[in-house]
Amino acid sequence: MDSLLIKGGVPLHGEVTISGAKNAVLPILAATLLTPEECVIRNVPDLSDVKFMGKILESLGAEVALDGDTMTVKSGRLKGVGDYELIRKMRGSICILGPLLARLHKAKVSLPGGCVIGARPVDLHLKGLKALGAKIKIESGYVTATAPKLIGGDIFLGGRVGPTVLGTANIMMAATLAEGITIIESAACEPEVVDLAEFLNAMGARIHGAGGPTITITGVKELHGAQHAVIPDRIEAATFAIVAAVTKGEVTLNNVRAEHLQAVLDKLRDAGVKWERRGTSLLVKGARRLKPVDVTTLPYPGFPTDVQAQMMVLMALAPGISIITERIFEARFMHVPELGRLGAEISVEGPSAIVKGGAPLSGAPVMASDLRASAALVIAGLVAKGTTQVHRIYHLDRGYEKIDEKLRALGARVERVPGE
Ligand code: UD1
Repeated sequence: MDSLLIKGGVPLHGEVTISGAKNAVLPILAATLLTPEECVIRNVPDLSDVKFMGKILESLGAEVALDGDTMTVKSGRLKGVGDYELIRKMRGSICILGPLLARLHKAKVSLPGGCVIGARPVDLHLKGLKALGAKIKIESGYVTATAPKLIGGDIFLGGRVGPTVLGTANIMMAATLAEGITIIESAACEPEVVDLAEFLNAMGARIHGAGGPTITITGVKELHGAQHAVIPDRIEAATFAIVAAVTKGEVTLNNVRAEHLQAVLDKLRDAGVKWERRGTSLLVKGARRLKPVDVTTLPYPGFPTDVQAQMMVLMALAPGISIITERIFEARFMHVPELGRLGAEISVEGPSAIVKGGAPLSGAPVMASDLRASAALVIAGLVAKGTTQVHRIYHLDRGYEKIDEKLRALGARVERVPGE
């Protein structure tokens, strides 16, 4: 397994182009299953999760071609049973269930595997599909959904901790081909849901209200092929903004939708980081002295759980006490002991991490446990004195396009060490 060797202490300068959003492209690729016609998706990030989704679509019978950042999918004839092992490995693959059911009236998909960031149930996805008239059976690790006809209805999708992003995507996709009108209440408001709705509407769907808590979908008989460019990745942008901030550098992020980053930018400003919007670019300047801040992760437009780990590094460097409270995935603190190896003083009390900031970080070998935790370790390594080796960076490659190359272009001393 590859690792990253980082020699810290260099302020990063220059420009970086943000790639297409992982969490937008995965459901959009699933949506291509809704039509037998060709779909062309642009601004597709070069990520292992995306390649994986391509393989899943192929295993269902779709023709998939990738040319640079453009992916073409034609789902002429489809099988309703996905490859058990492929699907089990990636959480995002659950969103093929809705489109397959809508198109083929029957779908059999393996339940997505467990994940280190906490319990990730799919009860809300299943509740939504049932409300559209599907019969659901769980057997031998598979979910089987059948519905000779999907019928629109009113669906409340709020869960224990609020809305569900992929659940909203799944139900929205299934409802596009249902008979009549579907109203999703307590829908996820994330920009990735809006991007999916825009693609579906380009395919001929009739969706209103995406981006707000009530989404109305008027079913249509069929969808056709369409083209779409994926939105920029707000989590990658936030990660690079934090990199610029903590290394005391000055970085221009290109291809950014700053309006998708308000909660993060607001907290960065509170922490003393200066930033400036320039059209689709964002200039971020590191603060000479960071200030402590308190953060609670919440559904959009709140502070994203996917930036919690990276923000914790900034807090560890700000002299004083910062508190970060995780409201979306309760067990998402796997990075805390690893950051501790670098010298960060963090203690976890229930859903909160208390960060005693200001202690200098020094390099050490650390182990990446999940995607965003890996990003946090890389950021910490960029600041730490000496050398940090981040092991198991396959997590990083799932969600950050060429992160080592992008960091090197900004002056970072980062090297990928191939694993045995
Ligand atoms: C998506 C993102 C992930 C992000 C998360 C929250 C993708 C591929 N992944 O994951 O990066 O961290 O949104 O912003 O887009 N829940 C239930 N029942 C369900 C579904 C979810 O109780 O049926 C709970 C989850 O356990 C969690 C919360 O709802 O506590 C939010 O999860 P959800 O929004 O569904 O996350 P994902 O869509 O899986």
